[in-house]
Amino acid sequence: MLRRLSIAVAGGLLLVSAVAGCGGDDGAAGGGSSGGGDDKITLGFAQVGAESGWRTANTKSIEESAATAGFELKFVDGQGKQENQIKAIRNFITQRVDVIAFSPVVESGWDTVLKEAKDAGIPVILTDRAIDSPDTSLYKTFIGSDFVEEGKKAGEWLVKEYQGKTDTVNIVELQGSPGAAPANDRKAGFADVIKADPKFKVVASQTGQFTRTDGKAVMETFLKSQPDIDVLYAHNDDMGLGAIEAIEAAGKKPGTDIKIITVDAVKDGMTALADGKINFIVECSPLLGPQLMDLVKKVKAGETIPQRVLTEETTFTPEQAKEALPNRKY
Ligand code: AHR
Repeated sequence: MLRRLSIAVAGGLLLVSAVAGCGGDDGAAGGGSSGGGDDKITLGFAQVGAESGWRTANTKSIEESAATAGFELKFVDGQGKQENQIKAIRNFITQRVDVIAFSPVVESGWDTVLKEAKDAGIPVILTDRAIDSPDTSLYKTFIGSDFVEEGKKAGEWLVKEYQGKTDTVNIVELQGSPGAAPANDRKAGFADVIKADPKFKVVASQTGQFTRTDGKAVMETFLKSQPDIDVLYAHNDDMGLGAIEAIEAAGKKPGTDIKIITVDAVKDGMTALADGKINFIVECSPLLGPQLMDLVKKVKAGETIPQRVLTEETTFTPEQAKEALPNRKY
């Protein structure tokens, strides 16, 4: 299966900041200052947005690592829209940055703008999320998690939890934002594992946009339309945390009346896990900054880098969350 790259850039105002450099460049308007001219590496980074705790930690990691590496970072918040990210990439090309990196909002629709970057001789690095283009020459490498594997780990925990039981297990699923690689892949990986046993039934599955607000709202509708929910599988912690509020408001006990599996392992999710409100979390690390800066340096120096850099991750039970929480960085 092809990995996907998604982009989000809204038609509205782009939020741009220059970090570790002299700043002041708006990055969203065409024809800005040149990224070249001195020895300092200029990195243009188009982020998805600020939809979740994971994303906030990811942005912080990128900004801090760029500063440590002594790069000029031109950072654009795509506000969840592909057109904003495309616009940002075009501006990075105009500004002649040394390297472009981005985390695509959705998987498809990137070939044209990435060909423009390639023709301009500016290398591109995909971070966090992949794209579905068969043309791998459009980017130097993809650094991030294996989202299918994350979905599988969620499914495997469920299968083990209900081992030896024969009653139907009604599952509701909160999907990430439509078209995003983590939404597509986490759904596919989970479905692939649970399909072996017909007692597992996904009775409702809808997007919660990776946000707490939508997770809560969609869970409220699930609770009204589904009389007997055994399990919630949420594609990230934030949606799971929103759903917990809805479950408690409906007079049910999260983690007991409804078992909950999420992905990410950010601090708030880990706290809910330690408190028994979530039962299992599959980790997805947002701390991609240091590795990304290392890859940027190598690409700029013309070194060969691997086409795929996989993030190392684990899973957490409530006991493991209690142990890990005091040292959790995000
Ligand atoms: O692409 C990573 C995903 O995006 C995270 O799991 C989710 O929280 C975020 O919004």
